[in-house]
Amino acid sequence: MKAGDILTISSGNLKKKNKVSKADLKVVEKEEVLTKPYNDINLKKWKEYDHILTGTLWEFPARMKEHGHSNDYHGNYIPQIAEQLYERFTKKHDIVLDLFFGSGTSGIEAINMNRRCIGVELKQELCDYVSEKFTPKQLVTDVNIICGDSASESVLDKIQARLEIMGAQKAQFLMLHPPYDDIIKFSDKKEDLSNCSSTEEFYDLFEKVARNGFEKLEKGRFAALIIGDKYAKGQYYPLSFGCMERMNRAGFITKAVIVKDIQGNERAKGKNAQLWRYRALYGGFYIFKHEYIMVFQKP
Ligand SMILES: C[S@@+](CC[C@H](N)C(=O)[O-])C[C@H]1O[C@@H](n2cnc3c(N)ncnc32)[C@H](O)[C@@H]1O
Repeated sequence: MKAGDILTISSGNLKKKNKVSKADLKVVEKEEVLTKPYNDINLKKWKEYDHILTGTLWEFPARMKEHGHSNDYHGNYIPQIAEQLYERFTKKHDIVLDLFFGSGTSGIEAINMNRRCIGVELKQELCDYVSEKFTPKQLVTDVNIICGDSASESVLDKIQARLEIMGAQKAQFLMLHPPYDDIIKFSDKKEDLSNCSSTEEFYDLFEKVARNGFEKLEKGRFAALIIGDKYAKGQYYPLSFGCMERMNRAGFITKAVIVKDIQGNERAKGKNAQLWRYRALYGGFYIFKHEYIMVFQKP
């Protein structure tokens, strides 16, 4: 036996004999644990984490629809993204701050994975609808929903108040899944990033959100941006790299650019797919089969 080893005694044998013989003593190796400060992955057992993706191409054959998730909102991200990112960049009980909460995918997955979440969403009716997905207790202890404008200065105090209710000063992970400019129009509100008069204005508003996220994120922690590009007026707009640049301006360093196959969460199939193929051939462009997940860190 080495120092640090733990002795255990089989209780069944103890009851039978009420006397401990040498054979009843089992030596159990003390588990060696090596973790980073921002996750619970035991690097001593890194070969056991086969399910964690480490490559830059993510393909999921289908959207996860179990465990509280449903495809009830046009423009929601697939839960497997949160699953991957939370395990890699958060610890149990950490707080995820999502500044474009939408239908609450980040919150649902936070509950599933024993994390917590603060979500900010602009549309009141959506906030009310999403609140129904959580129990009253969860809405106090685990998931806090703020109805507000993530680009505004006033949202900072609201986030701070919720952090303090949850016993924290800062969030430990930032999730950003903004509108992809005006591809899907989410509302008529002037604060809505999908309602900007130009892509430049979209970038400016996005940068304000990124700065708010930076402010409320703990130093050394990570942020993810989920975004796709767009075509307009016969031209390609790299929204992903435009927003990446604004994340950098806000103070984040870029850690990874992941390409995610979107065919698993595509709605348009059959006839529509053929129509797009015709349009692509006619217009001289290519049909999007991917979007991006960009990972950043607050230095
Ligand atoms: C792409 S969706 C997010 C979907 C979400 N990740 C989900 O899985 O359901 C973008 C969301 O951002 C919201 N939004 C747009 N501008 C906003 C703003 N200034 N502040 C807060 N939310 C905003 C929209 O109403 C929309 O629900």
